[in-house]
This record gives sequence, structure tokens and C-alpha cells, in this order.
Amino acid sequence: MAPSDDELPKRDVKQPLLFECAWEVANKVGGIYTVIKTKVPVTVSEYGDRYTLIGPLSYKTAPLEVEAHEPTDPILKSVLKDMHDRGVKYLYGRWLIEGAPKVLLFDTGSVHHRLDEWKGDLWNLAGIPTPPSDNETNETVIFGYLVAWFLGEFVAKQLTHAVVAHFHEWQAGLAIPLLRKRHVDVTTIFTTHATLLGRYLCAGSVDFYNNLQYFDVDHEAGKRGIYHRYCIERSSAHCADVFTTVSHITAYESEHLLKRKPDGVLPNGLNVIKFQAMHEFQNMHAISKAKINEFVRGHFYGHYDFDLENTLYMFTAGRYEYRNKGVDMFIESLARLNHRLQKVGSNVTIVAFIIMPAATNSYTIEALKGQAVTKQLHDTVTEIQNRIGQRMFERAARYTGDDAVEIPSMENLLSDEDKILLKRRIFALKRHSLPPVTTHNMVDDANDPILNQIRRVKLFNHGHDRVKIVFHPDFLNANNPILGLDYEEFVRGCHLGVFPSYYEPWGYTPAECTVMGIPSVTTNLSGFGSFMQDLIERPEDEGCYIVDRRMKSIEDSVNQNRRQRINQRNRVERLSPLLDWKNLGIEYSKARQLALRRAYPDAFDEDDDFDFGTGVGFGGGVERPAFSIPGSPMYRNGTATPGDLGTLTEEMQRLGTSDYRGSISGSMQWPGISKEDE
Ligand code: UDP
Ligand code: G6P
Ligand code: GLC
Repeated sequence: MAPSDDELPKRDVKQPLLFECAWEVANKVGGIYTVIKTKVPVTVSEYGDRYTLIGPLSYKTAPLEVEAHEPTDPILKSVLKDMHDRGVKYLYGRWLIEGAPKVLLFDTGSVHHRLDEWKGDLWNLAGIPTPPSDNETNETVIFGYLVAWFLGEFVAKQLTHAVVAHFHEWQAGLAIPLLRKRHVDVTTIFTTHATLLGRYLCAGSVDFYNNLQYFDVDHEAGKRGIYHRYCIERSSAHCADVFTTVSHITAYESEHLLKRKPDGVLPNGLNVIKFQAMHEFQNMHAISKAKINEFVRGHFYGHYDFDLENTLYMFTAGRYEYRNKGVDMFIESLARLNHRLQKVGSNVTIVAFIIMPAATNSYTIEALKGQAVTKQLHDTVTEIQNRIGQRMFERAARYTGDDAVEIPSMENLLSDEDKILLKRRIFALKRHSLPPVTTHNMVDDANDPILNQIRRVKLFNHGHDRVKIVFHPDFLNANNPILGLDYEEFVRGCHLGVFPSYYEPWGYTPAECTVMGIPSVTTNLSGFGSFMQDLIERPEDEGCYIVDRRMKSIEDSVNQNRRQRINQRNRVERLSPLLDWKNLGIEYSKARQLALRRAYPDAFDEDDDFDFGTGVGFGGGVERPAFSIPGSPMYRNGTATPGDLGTLTEEMQRLGTSDYRGSISGSMQWPGISKEDE
């Protein structure tokens, strides 16, 4: 039987313990990994060793990311020992990232034999059905039961501190209804980074935003075979003490699809590293661009008739979600751009990269050959250059002072052997095919949506094409034999990131461009785009283009000269404080405060203000970035926190749909809301 309120221990709410749980802890899939990893330094500075992350144990990545340690806390040690004695394998230690937080990773495979038992329990407890063959759900069930087991045991033994358990996304959310049903004395937060239905509906050909309020959610989930997943997501949202999401657009979507209005918005930050001097990041652009140049020379061998000084690099990147990430629109706009540049006889060349992992077999021979032949040519030129140098030195050194100075001619310096060798290398560049559109052999080449769209618009890297395409169907890595750069390095070397998403709760990729000083295009359907539109009056002047799914801005960038591009990079980079966790982390503190107040109302006085100053060094308001454009009125008065845009207050619950940002700024009219309502 659950203890009554009088029997519950009095826990310290001022020094709570924090467990943050996500499927992407030390396990990179997409943006949630970025949220957790980059937020660690501010959370550690607030919570120190009272903070532990919980995730799944992946034997492939964990050994590279985590250093194992024995737990020192006797309670934690005994709980983990009990679980271990009952067959649970785990890895406990420090995650090797900035802030080095404590991390606990559970091996779901070690208790796979309990899956059916737990599925039965879930059905009896919450009426959530789970089909046998959905592996992702099976993992979610096991992980949820392990985390609920762990936290239940932990708070049964640890009686002095309040415990905040913060969960991200449905795959980590199942513990929430379990903890609630079991009356475990923790306070919970659920942050969703998307809704399952939203992602699925948008990936199809549904007019999502105009119909959000009218979807029959159970029916739609059933039709797509995700009813059980939807139930897990919905019960996580409903059972949590505090429910949040990452942007207003997703808050609006959550209200209609999950049927709970979020308590607030926690915008995603980044761990912004400021360079001492402005020119440092500009130099990094030049260095990284040189590496991309090297790839391009190789990839386009035999057709390399364009001037790299007059070439611009654009890219899009992310998980392969063709429609949601707006790749359809990107390719279409590239085709139009190609046409216009051809029509005006432009001498600018655009190389557009698409970095999106898909199923592949290997690199194509052609792609590897391109790098090999140019490398050989380069090596040969270096050898010849050395020999010429030696000959030149030898002749010059023989000067005795009797004759007039004679500079040796090229004819004398370049030997016949050298000429033959050089010719052979040049002949190796002969090619009877066009430079390939993709770097890899695709498993399903004929049905790949990106390749099919490229075929449809006929962007085949012809000499007369001013827009060339390189589809790299894998995430980037400095160890790769071609395009061997880390993602960050690659972004720095480009001129423009293009992310015309149709469904994008936040969208880290344009945010990352911003802090690296690279202009980007995003849309008013992405959380990040709407956030910037709310904060800055004319984001496009700052190199942050937010389009209404139109690609006009791309052409603006094509017409810039180098000086304008350098200036624009400086302006973009100056926006980075807006995206710094040092400013945005406060919204997480607010969410935790709200969770504690809801769970332990008696522990707070009536006039006990939210205390956000603790340890993190957040004063009142936000550090203003040094840029000339005035912020929105809220931001300008200096007292607001960025999340006041997210308004994490209980007030928000009482207001109607019209209080979501994005409807106010005019950037996005929400269906069903008239101007008068605002
Ligand atoms: N990313 C990466 N390597 C790449 C391309 C992308 O690590 O080659 C990362 C990128 O830095 C970003 C994340 O993948 O942090 C994608 O996050 P986003 O929020 O844009 O989208 P999500 O995948 O979560 O929908
Ligand atoms: C940086 C470097 C400059 C370089 C420029 C190239 O600003 O500091 O030395 O000329 O990048 O800019 P671009 O936009 O042409 O790649
Ligand atoms: C999700 C969303 C993405 C967001 C990320 C982090 O995966 O697709 O838009 O940036 O989570 O919140």
C-alpha cells in the first residue's frame, strides 16, 4: 500500500537530486544527444554530483564514451548491487564529455527474458498493448521497467533529498506512468522533442498544420501501426508532474495530438565557445574550406573546369527524413537556381551537399578513384617540384662570379622523364562518365527518394550545370577516406546551410550553423526558426533566413561578394549568445522548480519566489548579444529570460491556444486563430 502523506519522509527540496533519462545518453542518434550532451556543463554547475544521467547501454558506443567507476554513494551502490544480483547488467561511470557527469547505462538485453512479464504488467496496469514484433517498443518497455525499478528502490532507501526525474521523448518515458502507478516518491518531468503522430503524419502527404485540431488521434495512430507507441507517449505526457517541449510549434502540436497542453517550452541551447578574436572563426572557415576544396577537385576530376575561388558550398544534413527535413524542397530549389544561373550566364558554381545517412553497401569505385587520381597527381607534382628545386639549387650554386647571372629556364629544369610522368598522371584524369551524384552504393538505389528527385530534376553534374550535387548518405567523420572531415569542420567550411524542414520541433542543424558563424536557411515551421523570428526583428539581416517554405534567400547569397560574405559570417556569429545554454539553461531550472512545487507544495511558502540564481550564475535576464538590431520588446527590457518566450508558468495552462508564440509574431498564423484573438 502507498504511504500516506504523513508517513512520507520530509525531503530536502532545496538540494534535490536529479536523474535525467534519455535514450540518447552516450548513444548518438540525432538531436536529443546534442541537447543532453551540450547541456551537461550548466546542469553540472547547478547540481554537481547530485546529477546522474540514465540511458541504455550500447556495447558499441559506451566503451568509447564512458569511463567505468565503482559508485561511491552507499545507497546507489546497494541498489545497483541488488539489481545486479537479479540479473541486471549496467555500466556506471563518468561520461567523457565536458562536465564529466555521472552516468548509469542499463543493458536491456540482460533482462530480455522478463519482457513478456513486463508487457503483461503494462497491459494490466495501464491498458497499453504491445505487439510482439516491434523491437523499438520492446526496448522501450524493458528500459522503462529498469528505470522505474531503479528509481523505486533508490528513493525507498534515500530518504533525505527530493528526487527530480527528468525524461526525454517517448522511448525513455515509460518509467513515468510506472512511477506514478507505484506511488514512487519522485517528481517527474517529461520533455517531448516531437510527437510520434506529428512525425508520421507529416512524412505522408497530409496538410498537417491546417488540420492539427481535427485529427482523430487514436484512429490515425492505429492506421499507421503505432497505436501502442502513441499510448506510451501519451501516458508519459499525462502522468508527468511537469510536461514540456522544445518549441511553441511543438507545444501547439502536443496539445492537440497528445491532449495535454505543455506547462512550458524549454528551447534547446548549445555550449557556445567564444573565441578571443573575431577573425579566429573566419580563419577556421578558410582552413575547413580548403579541405572541402580538396575533396571537390577529386570528386569532379575530368570535369573540374570551374573556379574554386568562385564556388560556393551549400549543404543540408540530418537524419534521413525526406519530406520532414525538406530535402524535396532543397533539391527543387537547387534545380531552379541552376536554371537561373545558366540563364544569366553566371560564372558562379554551387556545390550542394546532402549529408543524410541511408542504407549503403560501400563507397562507389568512382568516388574513391577520384580521390586517388588527384592524390597521385598531387604526389607526382610534389616529387617533380622537389626535383626541380634540387636542379635549380644545383645550377644556382655553381655560379662562380665570372659570368652574368643566368636564371635556369623551365626547359632545362623539367626533365623528359618528369614530363612523361606528369602526362601519365594527367591522362589518368580522363573520364567517360559524369562526376557521380552520390559517393556510396545505395542498397535501394532505384527507390531512394533523394536520388529519384535528383533524377527528376536532372541535376547530373554536367559541365554546363552551375549547380552540382554531392549526396553523401552517411554522417561525416574525419576518418572517412573521402570527405574526411568531422561534421563541425565541414559546416565551418561551407557558405550556407539549408534546412527547409516541414516538420522540425527544434532543428539543431541551423542553430549549430549560427554559433559557427555560417548563415543558414530554415523555415517558420521549425522550432528554431520561429524562436529566432521571435527574438530578432529582421533575422535575415543577420544571416538567419527564415522562409515560408520559399527558397528566395538562396539566390541572395549567390549574389554576394566575398566581403559581404565575411561580414555576414560575423553578424551571424554574434547571435550565438541567444543560443547559449548559459542563458537557456534557466528554463530547465524553472521546470524542475515547478515539478518540486507540484510534488511538495507544503515545502514552499506562498511567497517563496522561484529561485533561479543557484550556482549557475544566471542573473536576472539574459546576456545581451553585441549586435545592433533591437530584440523583440520582451527581450529588450532586459528582465526577460529567453523562456519567457516559452512562459513556463502555471498561467500558461489557463490560457487558450492563442498564447503560443509564432501566432503573435505574424510569422505563422495558426489555423483557427484570428488576429482579434491575439
Ligand atoms: N549531425 C552529425 N553529423 C552529421 C550530420 C548531423 O552529428 O554528419 C548532428 C547535428 O550536429 C545535429 C544532429 O545531428 O546536432 C541533428 O539534430 P536535429 O535537431 O537537427 O535533428 P533530429 O535528428 O534530432 O531530428
Ligand atoms: C575568411 C578568411 C579569409 C578568406 C575568406 C573566404 O574570412 O579569414 O582569409 O578569404 O574566409 O571567404 P569565402 O566566403 O569566399 O569562403
Ligand atoms: C528531435 C527533433 C529535432 C530537435 C531534436 C532536439 O529529434 O526532430 O527537431 O532539434 O529532437 O530537441
